[in-house]
Amino acid sequence: MKIHILTLFPEMFSGPFDESIIGRAVDQELVSIDINNIRDYTRDKHHVVDDSPYGGGPGMVLKPEPLFEAVDAVKGEADMPVILLTPQGRLFSQGLATELAGMDEMILVCGHYEGVDERVRQHLVTDEISIGDYVLSGGELAAMVVVDAVVRQLPGALGSEESAGGDSHSTGLLEYPQYTRPQSFRGWEVPEILLSGDHAEIERWRRGQSLKRTAERRPDLMQRVALSDEDRKLIARMEREEE
Ligand code: 6GU
Repeated sequence: MKIHILTLFPEMFSGPFDESIIGRAVDQELVSIDINNIRDYTRDKHHVVDDSPYGGGPGMVLKPEPLFEAVDAVKGEADMPVILLTPQGRLFSQGLATELAGMDEMILVCGHYEGVDERVRQHLVTDEISIGDYVLSGGELAAMVVVDAVVRQLPGALGSEESAGGDSHSTGLLEYPQYTRPQSFRGWEVPEILLSGDHAEIERWRRGQSLKRTAERRPDLMQRVALSDEDRKLIARMEREEE
């Protein structure tokens, strides 16, 4: 996979992309991440990337020319999605990350300032993504979030010790509670069942905990999971135990 990033702040990406799972995926050549400075695609003497809005108002708007030039240069003859990171975009999700993980190549455009010239939305980008209902200073952190969620899904990105299968959201449910040594910490014990060696019973307990946690914390997610007969029994049992 090849991910091209267009940004006014290329230095922001060193660090997050050099470490951990993304850094390892880059080293293993599962993905290459190509950071481009939008300012390099200006043609005027002062390398101007923004200007005041027509109609007046505060702030600056990203000019269309450098963005069109940058996308044309990066794309060449190839066809690929051009995704603008913006709070006005489609809400990012695990499902969307899985969809993007199936692409060979994509361009992520980081918006900044008050916004980008509307013609960029209309005639250059193919998708717009937001990572949540809050305002960030620019699309860079959002692009990093998208890259992380996508790259960790590439085959081979996670070591044999790690697995994406049980992660919160990959099953549609929140993750079950985890414990490690010591068995007793400041008088707080690890649940007995996890020490029992009864793997079937442990699986049932974990599934039950995931269901309970999701129902309590994110009832909105419960509507979308397909519950098995076994799940319904577990929920009924937990409700009885709480009475
Ligand atoms: Cl993609 N960009 C900005 N600037 N703010 C955001 C966002 C993106 N997603 C949530 N807030």
